[in-house]
Amino acid sequence: MAGGKLASNYSAWKKLQTLYDSTHKSLNLRELFDSDPKRFEKYHRIWTPSSDSSKQNTSILLDFSKNLINEQIFETLLELAREVDIPSATEDLFTGKHINTSEDRAVLHIALRNFSAQSDPKWAISEPGVDEVHPVLEHIHHFSDAVRSGEWKGYTGKSIKSIVNIGIGGSDLGPVMVTEALKAYSKRDLNAHFVSNIDGTHLAETLLKCDPETTLFIVASKTFTTQETITNAESARAWFLSHAHDRSHIARHFVALSTNTKAVTEFGIAKENMFQFWDWVGGRYSLWSAIGLSIALVIGYENFESLLNGAHAMDKHFRTAPLEQNLPVILALVGIWYNDFYGSQTHALLPYDQYLNKFADYFQQGDMESNGKFVTKDGHRVDYQTGPIIWGAAGTNGQHSFYQLVHQGTKLIPADFLAPATSLNPIESSKHHRILLSNFFAQPEALAFGKTEDEVRKEVGANATEALVKSKVFEGNRPSNSIMFPVVTPHLLGALIAMYEHKIFVQGTIWGINSFGEALPPIISYKYSHAFKILDQMGVELGKVLAKNILKQLGSPGDVKGHDSSSISPFIEHSVMLPH
Ligand code: F6P
Repeated sequence: MAGGKLASNYSAWKKLQTLYDSTHKSLNLRELFDSDPKRFEKYHRIWTPSSDSSKQNTSILLDFSKNLINEQIFETLLELAREVDIPSATEDLFTGKHINTSEDRAVLHIALRNFSAQSDPKWAISEPGVDEVHPVLEHIHHFSDAVRSGEWKGYTGKSIKSIVNIGIGGSDLGPVMVTEALKAYSKRDLNAHFVSNIDGTHLAETLLKCDPETTLFIVASKTFTTQETITNAESARAWFLSHAHDRSHIARHFVALSTNTKAVTEFGIAKENMFQFWDWVGGRYSLWSAIGLSIALVIGYENFESLLNGAHAMDKHFRTAPLEQNLPVILALVGIWYNDFYGSQTHALLPYDQYLNKFADYFQQGDMESNGKFVTKDGHRVDYQTGPIIWGAAGTNGQHSFYQLVHQGTKLIPADFLAPATSLNPIESSKHHRILLSNFFAQPEALAFGKTEDEVRKEVGANATEALVKSKVFEGNRPSNSIMFPVVTPHLLGALIAMYEHKIFVQGTIWGINSFGEALPPIISYKYSHAFKILDQMGVELGKVLAKNILKQLGSPGDVKGHDSSSISPFIEHSVMLPH
């Protein structure tokens, strides 16, 4: 099984460092394009799903020509992928090897959307739970049909009008992002709400919009122990019972999505109202599992299955395409070039599609929780950068807030621009979309080629001050990828999400870290190991454990002790800060 080696020990890594040292001052995108009219030809790929999926309006064009790479750099990046042996690491993923080493688990979100197992033995996976994937999908199918058709009734005989998904992190962000991205396919008279924050405001404001007789609560938690989710679910149950009075009515209004049957039944949710998934599904990779129930309710089961199919089509591409044709691999390698050699700290995701306005939020968890690790699989502290800070917003809104810094600030911010060729809302004969696309095309161009001092002088005339001239110069040479697809469909979205999932996997594999489990710093393991048995994000868990202790102390402020001089005590001393 591949993994664990320090990336800086690979000879291709060292070669890349030498290449960076010798080229970074001279590589210039204007010159690269001027000297090679075929640059786009070389540095773009079009992926179209093969076989059964080809009926779908899915293809993805990745233009990576506006990156600070030349043939030698790209070849050396591919050499790195070969040296790390990405193909065999990929096989380990798809065949269910325990690549989540810290928890000794397989990583099988790919099994949740695997529609090839019956027809192709290569796709068969033997892992407990995998055989139950399709029965759970059937359960989701029946249940979502029943709710959407009005056949499922609440305790007073009325159909469901609102669903409230209560979950956090991976049990929230995926459904939030996908239901937003596929709103055009949604049942408009079913209101979907998502409650995640422990701040009571989130639940209270949501309940104001709900009628207990027509609301279905979906308690989504892999572990069913997450403080925020369980507290919100208990409060939702109390609110419901304050109207329904009889606990037997819970069965019509509460379902659970979890791996923890015992905790679900203890909460009062019947086993038949539980949608199961398995410990080999990571929280941030779980929208394909029962966690996607709210998605199926909002867009219908057929569309949900199409989403899974799109992801599976991308899985096939990722598993079989040669490295130099492989979209996730290319995205990963180009990302590593900036993250580890140029010293870029962040990576922006900039979808030019309002429906994708939660895309960056979703991959903030997907990427940062996966690759925000400083220890390799075999316990060495890395001597290079791992996961970038992921951020972004939908275009063109971002252009009116942070793009100034991306264009003329002092930081190098690689970005992915994403856009559909066709809008799902072609109002005014697609005038809006043409304007949107003109911006989608203009921004990468402006970033790459900028505006020289000569060009500015011509523009402002001889009387302009030097300061004005300088302030109008765009240095350019700022890299980006452009990713375009025909239209946002469930199938396309599935493929797009899977593409980024695999990008994260490839990067994590190159960095030698466990993208699917914890990197447990020794001091934490010693002090808090009891709390980490079933959890897989140590960085997140330390805060949780500390909060638990503080919560006890907040109950009686006199007990607040054992903290440094700035944490808690001074706040408690100021009565205005006393918790109520
Ligand atoms: O924040 C850590 C985390 O474990 C995420 O990875 C996960 O998605 C989230 O908490 C929620 O966990 P659960 O689904 O078990 O409630």
